[in-house]
Amino acid sequence: MDHFLYQADELYAEQCQVAELAKLHGTPLYIYSRATLERHWHAFDNAVSEHPHLICYAVKANSNIAVLNVLARLGSGFDIVSGGELSRVIEAGGDPAKVVFSGVGKTVAEMEMALNLGIYCFNVESAAELEQLNLVAVRLGKVAPVSLRINPDVDAGTHPYISTGLKENKFGIAMEEAEAIFARANELPGLAVKGVDCHIGSQLTEIKPFLDAMDRMLALIDRLAEQGIEIKHFDVGGGLGVTYDDELPPQPDVYAAALLERLGGRDLKLIFEPGRAIAANAGIFVTQVLYLKENSDKRFALVDGAMNDLIRPSLYSAWQKIIPVIERAGDSHSYDVVGPVCETGDFLGKDRQLNVLAGDYLAVRSSGAYGFTMASNYNSRPRAVELMVDGDKAYVIREREKIAQLWQGEQILP
Ligand code: LLP
Repeated sequence: MDHFLYQADELYAEQCQVAELAKLHGTPLYIYSRATLERHWHAFDNAVSEHPHLICYAVKANSNIAVLNVLARLGSGFDIVSGGELSRVIEAGGDPAKVVFSGVGKTVAEMEMALNLGIYCFNVESAAELEQLNLVAVRLGKVAPVSLRINPDVDAGTHPYISTGLKENKFGIAMEEAEAIFARANELPGLAVKGVDCHIGSQLTEIKPFLDAMDRMLALIDRLAEQGIEIKHFDVGGGLGVTYDDELPPQPDVYAAALLERLGGRDLKLIFEPGRAIAANAGIFVTQVLYLKENSDKRFALVDGAMNDLIRPSLYSAWQKIIPVIERAGDSHSYDVVGPVCETGDFLGKDRQLNVLAGDYLAVRSSGAYGFTMASNYNSRPRAVELMVDGDKAYVIREREKIAQLWQGEQILP
C-alpha cells in the first residue's frame, strides 16, 4: 500500500495535492512519500523481527540524501556499490558500521575509504578483488570484514538485464570455486571472513528462485563449517518485486517467513538488501501534457518528461501505470505517452487509455526506485526537481537543475 491516492477526482501525495505541487514547482518532477518509505522499511524489519538481521537498503534505487536520511533515522543499514554512494550515506547521517559494499569493480580508493570508515562488510565478487582488498587492508593496518558473493546459478525469471544469478552473468563467484576462494580468504592476514551473499536479480515476483538460491547457499555454508570456516551472516541480497501492473509478488512477511523456515536452526544473522521494494511505490513522476498529436490512426500525448528523466520504459520495456492527476469525465482514447527526446525509444507508456488535454498533468506511478537515480542530461535536459511529502507538508529535496549546471566543469580551448 502507498500514500498516492485519489480524493474525489484528484490525486494526493499523502495530504498534498499533486496538481498544486506541480504548479508550484513545475514539471517534470518526482514526488516521494515519507510515510510510504517508512511503511515499506518497517514491513521488512518487522518481517524478521525476532531473528538477528540487518536491513541494508540498496542505495542505487533512490539515493537522494533525504530518502537515505529518513531510512537512517529508522536504523537502516545500506547496501552501496560505489564511493559516491558511501559518501551519500555518510552525508545523510547513515551509520558506516551498517554498510555492506557490493559491486564487481571496487577501486583501491573505494576500498581505502570504506576501510577507513569501518563498514560492516565487503561483498567480494572475485578472487582478484579478494587479493586486492587484502593488500589494501594490510597496507592500512586494518582487517577487512568480507563476505563472498556466490553465484548460485538460478534463473530468477525476470528481465535479462536485471537477472544476475546465472552462470553467464558477470556477478559473483562460481559455486564450484567458492570453497577454494573461502579457504584462501581465511588465510589472508588482511581479511576476516564473516559471511556469504548472493543476489539473483531484481523485480522477482515468485518466491521459488529465492528459495532455490538459499538452498544452494545453505549447503555451501554447511560444507564450509565442515572445513572449519565459520560463517556468521548470510546476505540474501535484494530483488523482491513490486506491483507495477497486476503482478502479485510475495509481501515481505511471506518472503521472510519462507527464508527463515529454510534457515532451520542455523545460527546465522540475515542481511537483506531491498531497494525497489522500499522505494518504487513510494514515488511518482509527474509530467505535463504539452501537445496532443495524431499520426494516421495513432494518438500521441507529448509530455515534458522523457527517457532522460525515467528510462525504465525505454531501457527494459518496463510498464508503469500512468494516471491523470485530475480525472476528467468523458471518453478516453488510446495514447502513446512520449517525451521530447529525439529517439523513437523515448516513451513513458504505450497504448494507454487516457482522457487528456494539453496542459493536464499525468503521474507515472512506481517511480521512486530506479527513476531519478538513472536520470541523465541527454538532449541537454536539466534533471527534474525532487520533492518529499510528509503529511500535509512538501519539501524540495533536490532543486531542478539549472541550465548553467549543464556545462559545469566543461572548458573551451584557449
Ligand atoms: N543488492 C545488489 C547486489 C544489487 O545488485 C541490487 C540491484 C540490489 C541489492 C537491489 O535490488 P532490488 O531490491 O532493488 O531489486 N535498474 C533496474 C534494476 C537494477 C537492479 C540492480 N541491482 C530497474 O530499473 O529495474
